[in-house]
Amino acid sequence: MELVDALRTTGAVRDFLDDPVDDEALVRILDRARFAPSGGNRQGWRVVVVKDPAVRSGVRDIYVAGWAEYQAQRAAGLTPFAPITDTAAEADALERASRDGVVADSFLGDFAENFDTVPALLVVLVDIGMLAAVDRDLDRYTFAGGASVYPFAWSIMLAAREEGLRGVITTIAIRREPALKKLLNVNDELAVAALIALGHPKSQPKHLKRMAVDEFVTIDRVGGPPFEVMNRASS
Ligand SMILES: Cc1cc2nc3c(=O)[nH]c(=O)nc-3n(C[C@H](O)[C@H](O)[C@H](O)COP(=O)(O)O)c2cc1C
Repeated sequence: MELVDALRTTGAVRDFLDDPVDDEALVRILDRARFAPSGGNRQGWRVVVVKDPAVRSGVRDIYVAGWAEYQAQRAAGLTPFAPITDTAAEADALERASRDGVVADSFLGDFAENFDTVPALLVVLVDIGMLAAVDRDLDRYTFAGGASVYPFAWSIMLAAREEGLRGVITTIAIRREPALKKLLNVNDELAVAALIALGHPKSQPKHLKRMAVDEFVTIDRVGGPPFEVMNRASS
């Protein structure tokens, strides 16, 4: 498919037809995604394709537990799991989620409820010893290491388009990473980066809600003049 179209229309899809996803298609997707960049070209990613219904069911329960926490924080008006947040309000929301469980303030939603039945479920892991976490010594939350695995995850999403597949990158199950790792027999060196659901979509999202270029690009400094040529190009 055309690159610009893929970049502009690869939104999150959580609603799938029952049609299965061929292993051949998954292999092609992974074979294209493997060309993603990583710091020092270390390619620390590993992938588990989860097929066993019992394992999927365990993953679903883990997903749902995290999702209840996410929803409780959202209901409290927080940005869920933001490294900088109102910690008292967050603790309160998390306490509510653990008390009420899956029947937290807002309903769970079909996707979380049926997470075990998504047509294809890929767990993206990463070898922490292979990450170029150049911000690890700074006095702030670190995220540069993720840049050595999330381009790969995004390449999976883009490569899936070529197969007529859609899906969503999810991370909420990482809230219960120890349980997830136990379930999937993951060793200590690996961390869970994402769970990717893929399938044949019930509908095709086209117009994604995103900021305009002049809302996030300035010249020479933060708060500087907007990069207006780019702005015109984005409309
Ligand atoms: C790092 C990351 C983590 C995400 N985690 C979840 C998740 O746990 N569950 C979920 O349903 N969606 C998850 N999403 C999907 C986002 O909610 C989605 O990309 C965003 O809301 C934009 O949606 P849109 O493409 O429909 O506009 C995640 C996306 C990213 C990039």
